[in-house]
Amino acid sequence: MKTLIKNGRIVDPSQNLDAVMDLLIEDGVVKAIEKKITEKADETYEAKGLLVTPGLVDVHTHLREPGLEAKEDIVTGTMAAAAGGVTTIACMPNTKPIVDSSILVSGIKDRAAREGYVNVEVVGAITKGLEGKELAEMGDMAQKGAMAFSDDGHYVSSTRTFTLAAEYISAFDKILISHSIDHELSSDGYMHEGVVSARIGVPGIPALAEDVAVARDILVAEYTGARVHIAHVASKGAIELIRQAKKRGIPVTCEATVHHLTLTDEACADYNTATRVSPPLRSKDHVEAIREALKDGTVDAIVTDHAPHAPEEKDVEFRYAPCGFCGLETSLGVILTELYHTNLFTINEIIGKMSTEPANIFSLNAGSLKVGNPADVTIIDLNKEWIVDSMKFYTRGKLTPFEGKSCKGKAVATMVAGKFVMRDGVVCTR
Ligand code: DOR
Ligand code: ZN
Repeated sequence: MKTLIKNGRIVDPSQNLDAVMDLLIEDGVVKAIEKKITEKADETYEAKGLLVTPGLVDVHTHLREPGLEAKEDIVTGTMAAAAGGVTTIACMPNTKPIVDSSILVSGIKDRAAREGYVNVEVVGAITKGLEGKELAEMGDMAQKGAMAFSDDGHYVSSTRTFTLAAEYISAFDKILISHSIDHELSSDGYMHEGVVSARIGVPGIPALAEDVAVARDILVAEYTGARVHIAHVASKGAIELIRQAKKRGIPVTCEATVHHLTLTDEACADYNTATRVSPPLRSKDHVEAIREALKDGTVDAIVTDHAPHAPEEKDVEFRYAPCGFCGLETSLGVILTELYHTNLFTINEIIGKMSTEPANIFSLNAGSLKVGNPADVTIIDLNKEWIVDSMKFYTRGKLTPFEGKSCKGKAVATMVAGKFVMRDGVVCTR
């Protein structure tokens, strides 16, 4: 099977490429990128005026399967990814049961391979049951192809346990992803501690809770030499610590979410539970610091932290709502609107942070359209204007703080291993 994508502007940071070219795909892999390809193909896609990029890679997603299918499952979650232009996702282990053994890693991978619409990587737990006490079977899970390890949603509070985990995973060159928020400092709060929390009378979570946790994680990375990736960095203090750590050569990387790059705690002012998230949305000074860090390379990747919840779970008072909301179907549009069309970032920088760089950190065979690589491709209309309407989402957890937002830029086709999984916003049925 040959597919020819013609006349698109190919932006591929992995090859320093930004040019109008043709892309030939054969049997699921990239066969050629050239100015003009005349070879006959089974299908030709006219991409004039559109961007053709390596498929987006989201290394922080919650698919909720097994056990929490009322929020999401592998089918609906991967459909949402396809709709958003995302071709590889890494799912977090806070399911029911927790993904803390190899049988669960294999189970998710098998089901995703059979029924998923995009590539699914699995993040295993660091500790059994995410309880922060006993180490999970990380070696076994690594053998079954776990991408990395995380107790996402929970901080591994015991420094001894986290250090042991770091020493353990270095033996097989994996990465610990840390949800770096000190539990004691954060457990009495529901949103970012600041002017807005004081004004609306919601107990706050100090940024200090994140800063001290990140400081500890960096020290453990330095001491053990293990690679530590800080999930969803949201505070300016944490950013500065990571910047300095990188300068000192400590093996630490980090990601920022779409929402922490584009929303402030003002979004929480009307108690909309769609804005309750962990870490919380912070004030403008923090958002600006994260943007600066994205620019100077301190932040390596943009992620969604797609964390769907059933609508009725979020239909409660602000403080009782579970943290998180969906993100796969809004991430590209929101980032293009807020960071590209405002001239803050180039398209090359954005595709780098949403595809090539996260793939490189976790050594995924993704994020590049080099000849011979899997043909995971996102085709983007940079100028398509659209309004976020959660009723059109594929995800089950429809609530989003971006509801009703006017966006400019959208994925118009998504291809995984040479096959279209989304065209014109519609996920292709099998
Ligand atoms: O807001 C969040 N929700 N942050 C996390 O780290 C976990 C996630 C979830 O699982 O719902
Ligand atoms: Zn998460």
